[in-house]
Parts: sequence; structure tokens; C-alpha cells
Amino acid sequence: MRKKLVAGNWKMHGSLVENAALLAAIKPALQGIEAAVCVPFPYLGQAQAALAGSSIAWGAQNLSEQTKGAFTGEVSAAMLVDFGCRYVIVGHSERRSLYGESDELVAKKYMAAQAAGLTPILCVGELLAEREAGVTEAVVARQLDAVIAAAGVASLARAVVAYEPVWAIGTGKTATPEQAQAVHAFIRSKVAALDVGVAAGLVIQYGGSVKASNAAELFIQPDIDGGLIGGASLVADEFVAICRAAAK
Ligand code: PGA
Repeated sequence: MRKKLVAGNWKMHGSLVENAALLAAIKPALQGIEAAVCVPFPYLGQAQAALAGSSIAWGAQNLSEQTKGAFTGEVSAAMLVDFGCRYVIVGHSERRSLYGESDELVAKKYMAAQAAGLTPILCVGELLAEREAGVTEAVVARQLDAVIAAAGVASLARAVVAYEPVWAIGTGKTATPEQAQAVHAFIRSKVAALDVGVAAGLVIQYGGSVKASNAAELFIQPDIDGGLIGGASLVADEFVAICRAAAK
């Protein structure tokens, strides 16, 4: 059976004081449960110090596609490795829509992450208008194809995919388990058409207003392998309950 993985996406939230309390609350509660938190860059050292030796991994929410050089303000994959990161989110819808990241740039970031030994969490998902226009599968396929074309299908054995319908992110509107499962099954079948083994092992997270109250019904779906959690990952009890739901 595939493992389930829940990852928190703190986005641009937190402070040294708030993070210390959150990390101190989730660490003992998740003992033995594999989970991850993706924190803002300045707090990577704090996450590393707090979580080293625990079952909770840490990572970042973005990285540069470049390895080093005159790229003011950018952070490389090697720097994330320096801070013990295991994961890095690439292609989050907020990066795509607010910062203009193209499918091609996302693919470059994905490859830069893997080249350094990080596991990219590749986000895909459609806008509300795209769902209403009936092009959800076409959009998700295009986003996945850009990565497969650049890095090859075999690279997905060292990645996590997160399906995040943009209309469900931070809106309180969760996709129904059936809606999410349908897209997850589509993603897996698309990968299976190229490599059955990679598809069978691929962890596909759902993201978009996951809460303790709806996690179980999502995670029970056959192709939903955990979640990428925004708002609820900032609330210790919520995040712990979601991780426990995935571990059942
Ligand atoms: P949300 O965010 O759980 O707050 O909807 C999910 C995400 O953007 O990763």
C-alpha cells in the first residue's frame, strides 16, 4: 500500500514565538507519524532545531530554479538541503497566479529540487472558471505534462503531487471526496499510461480547505494519499488530527 503523507503549508504566517509553540505542540502529538511542515525560509533553522530526530520532516514553499549566482532575493535547492529540508513545494497556485510562474518555470524548479536530493511537492489544480468550463482534466494534464516532458515520468518516483483545486484553497469550500477522487484517479491513470509502477507508488495529496472535520472522508478515497494543508496547519490540534486521520 502507498503511504499517506500530510504536509503543512504555513504560507507567509508565523513568528519565532508562534512557531515555537506550534512546533512544541505537534511534535510529541505526532510521535511516530510521518508528516511534514513547509515553513517560510527564515524559519527553516528553527524547524530543523525543533524537529530533528522526530518523525516530522520540514521543507520550504518555493525555491529558485538557479543553482547559485547573482539572483538577488532567491534561495537555492542546496541552501534548503543545508537546513535539512526533505521537501519543497513547487508550483503552488499562489506562485503561479500571483508571481506569474509558468508551467516551464515550475518544471525547472522541480528539477532543481530533485537535482539537490529534495522531494518536490508539485502542485496542480484548476481555477473555478476552468472547472465550470469543463477543462479541469486538460489543465491538470497540461501542468503535469510540462514536468514529465522536462524531467521524465520516472522522476515522479521521487516526487509528491498535490492536487489543489484553486477554488478550494483558503475558501472553506472543499472539493467533495468524489470530486477530488475523480481528479486523483485521472492523474494516476495519466501517469500509469506512461509507467504503471510509478503511478502505483505515486503519493497524490489533496489540498484545499482540508480540516480535521473533513480529512477522514477525503483520505479514505482510494487515490487520495494524504493532504497539503494550509490554514489548518497553523492550528496544532487541527493539524495533529488531520495527520492522525491519514495515519489510520
Ligand atoms: P488551505 O490551503 O488548506 O488553507 O485551503 C491549502 C494550500 O494552499 O496548500
